Amino acid sequence: MEQVFGVIGDPIGHSLSPIIHNDAFMNLGIKARYHAFHVKKQDLEIAVKGMKALGIKGFNVTVPHKVAIIPFLDELDESAQLLHAVNTVVNDNGKLIGYNTDGYGFYRSLKEHVDVHPQNVKVLIIGAGGAARAIYTTLAKEGFSHIDLVNRTVERAHALKENCPIEVKGEVFTYQQFAKSKDPYDVMIQTTSIGMKPNVNEKPIDLKGHVHEKTVVADIIYNPIQTALLQEAESLGLATVDGVGMLVHQGAYAFQLWTGKEPDAERMKQLLYEKLRGTI
Ligand code: ATR
Repeated sequence: MEQVFGVIGDPIGHSLSPIIHNDAFMNLGIKARYHAFHVKKQDLEIAVKGMKALGIKGFNVTVPHKVAIIPFLDELDESAQLLHAVNTVVNDNGKLIGYNTDGYGFYRSLKEHVDVHPQNVKVLIIGAGGAARAIYTTLAKEGFSHIDLVNRTVERAHALKENCPIEVKGEVFTYQQFAKSKDPYDVMIQTTSIGMKPNVNEKPIDLKGHVHEKTVVADIIYNPIQTALLQEAESLGLATVDGVGMLVHQGAYAFQLWTGKEPDAERMKQLLYEKLRGTI
């Protein structure tokens, strides 16, 4: 019987996950389908019960359900407990187990591009929302010892730092304070929605004055693939990491949790590049 997987969220129409998962099922000869399910906030509990009742084998969870789903699951693995958010659910013979592959997905994508050693690396994370929390906490767990934060709502950045179960050195800035700071960073990670289509000319900070020649600049936005911030980084001759890698690796890891098989991440990435560039 064909197995069913999916993603729940609101909005969900533009999700790229069905493309990569359905291609990977086909490529690996697995009889399965992955669907995007539009689930509104008020229907979350009943939708999760429905997933279980229908024997859906696994699903991704996206905005706005990543935290709200927790009470409706049977178990959380270590990653979901640590990040206090779930983006992947595995249906283990009727037991729904929550995982979080976002932070790991980002870290894999970063490591794919650059040889980063956590010790003595000074990191800046721009933003303090859910994505920033997943990345901050994962980097802290991986041994990064200095992470600064800059965010419009500075209280949110303080809360992120204080609520992280792993203590990490670092300062919290408003954008105004950051503009005046002078120390260069080794890795800078953009996690806000600034620069996302249609506002493609916007960027949250100016890189000049905050980088050295080996600084790596990452943006988790994948539409556009090259944000204004990454364009500035390239014009300064810096290494860049776009958001497609994180999208692929969080998905590839979820796929592995569901099927026990490792999908071809490079193939997934090429598919997404083609899709985002409008050629398929
Ligand atoms: P996600 O789960 O994708 O991280 P989120 O939790 O809504 O989404 O977080 C969005 C991030 O983008 C936050 O850091 C937010 O800043 P605030 O905490 O101050 O709201 C940031 N952000 C979004 N729009 C912004 C804007 N126009 N200017 C500055 N920051 C913005």
